[in-house]
Amino acid sequence: MSAMQKLLPPSRLDRAGYLDRDGYLAYQYAVADTEWARKVLTSTPLTGLGGAHFAFARKVASMLTSSTPRVVVCNAAEDEPGSRKDRMLLARNPHVVLEGAMIAAIAVDATDIVIYVSELADEEHQSLTEAMAEIDDPPATAAIRIVRADQRYVSGEATAAVDAINGGDGKPTGQPPYPTEKGVNGRPTLVANCETLANLPRIVRADRAGLEPSWTRLTTVTGDIAAPGVYEIDPYCDTFADLFVCAGNVTGSGRLKGFQPGGPSSRFLGPDAAGTLIANDAIRAAGSQPGCLAIRVVSTSSCIVEICREITAFFSREQCGQCPPCRMKTQTYHRIMQQVGAAGGGWDLLEKLAAVEEFVGDMPRRCSLIDMPTPPVESALTLFPDDFAAHIEGGSCAQREASAVSPS
Ligand SMILES: Cc1cc2nc3c(=O)[nH]c(=O)nc-3n(C[C@H](O)[C@H](O)[C@H](O)COP(=O)(O)O)c2cc1C
Ligand code: SF4
Repeated sequence: MSAMQKLLPPSRLDRAGYLDRDGYLAYQYAVADTEWARKVLTSTPLTGLGGAHFAFARKVASMLTSSTPRVVVCNAAEDEPGSRKDRMLLARNPHVVLEGAMIAAIAVDATDIVIYVSELADEEHQSLTEAMAEIDDPPATAAIRIVRADQRYVSGEATAAVDAINGGDGKPTGQPPYPTEKGVNGRPTLVANCETLANLPRIVRADRAGLEPSWTRLTTVTGDIAAPGVYEIDPYCDTFADLFVCAGNVTGSGRLKGFQPGGPSSRFLGPDAAGTLIANDAIRAAGSQPGCLAIRVVSTSSCIVEICREITAFFSREQCGQCPPCRMKTQTYHRIMQQVGAAGGGWDLLEKLAAVEEFVGDMPRRCSLIDMPTPPVESALTLFPDDFAAHIEGGSCAQREASAVSPS
């Protein structure tokens, strides 16, 4: 991994430690020259790191055309399975998140900052609370408060976050209106992921120093890997293979069968893609999506059908029930994966997936969870048809692999 300045220190940085790393310098530059800070934020190539990769600069620009007063929401709900990067940021470097949110508030002329933190993240909440108590110098130009997010996955969706902060039950409300038009307390609201905001201090510092911005990315590695956890990588030179070595290598059979680079809703990639750079364009070119870089490693001794069953169970359980097509699609996907896993159906069962997709089509929905079961299941069927064949014919992938590696 490269020696580029990182977001994650080895242990928690308090205010003094953060100031030693040029902490709050970028914020002071932004306070001193707001117009310039605005220009930096409306021209940065940074894309949102909560999963969708929407251009951050465009979101800031659209905030600037809206009415005042405005609000900034730092989205650290993070209840996606396999992702822990935002929690790690809050635990180890809470001041970089605060400084990023404060810079965003200066740039979009916001009077309020809300940090939206999972109700399960007590340690991270504590770390953030302590950091907030330390930022009297320089003082924040916006009022900062924390709102706890329900542990349901959909609570992290932008309109659900706004709804929860407004005292609702934290379900997606659909767009438009976009939060940038009407969000917290009806005010224009910039909802940005925790890691997205944590990048702003170094982007602003780089601009002031006349340097091109460059940044690391946080990834969470789980699955068949010896040392699962959060790793900070350099997207300009680190590949998935490098990361897997860093994380102690593949476990199970020790041989890589495939991986999901961008969380449970991303397409699987095969072992030949391990040499891909962990960068958005490279991941897309390889045929998947970067998402929030929650990387799931699958060894040849793991069963893809079982993994698809688990993924579809998650989406079926977590859909919030507001949109009938989403309820129907997620439940059908899960039922089919359950039946295939239990060797209770033939290939015609899998053909029903296409019929479900066609039926659901463009039916109204309030968020994109409805689309999420498709890429993993579709790619699993394309890349690992033998696993499905083994189930449909009554066997199991793990048994096949065990007999393949054992000469007896
Ligand atoms: C079901 C669902 C759950 C989501 N959960 C989160 C989350 O926990 N954290 C997050 O930052 N974004 C989450 N998002 C994405 C947000 O809707 C939104 O795009 C993001 O917070 C914007 O920040 P960014 O542009 O900096 O990524 C979720 C989206 C969906 C559809
Ligand atoms: S698409 Fe699904 S998860 Fe999203 S609001 Fe509708 S029912 Fe809820």
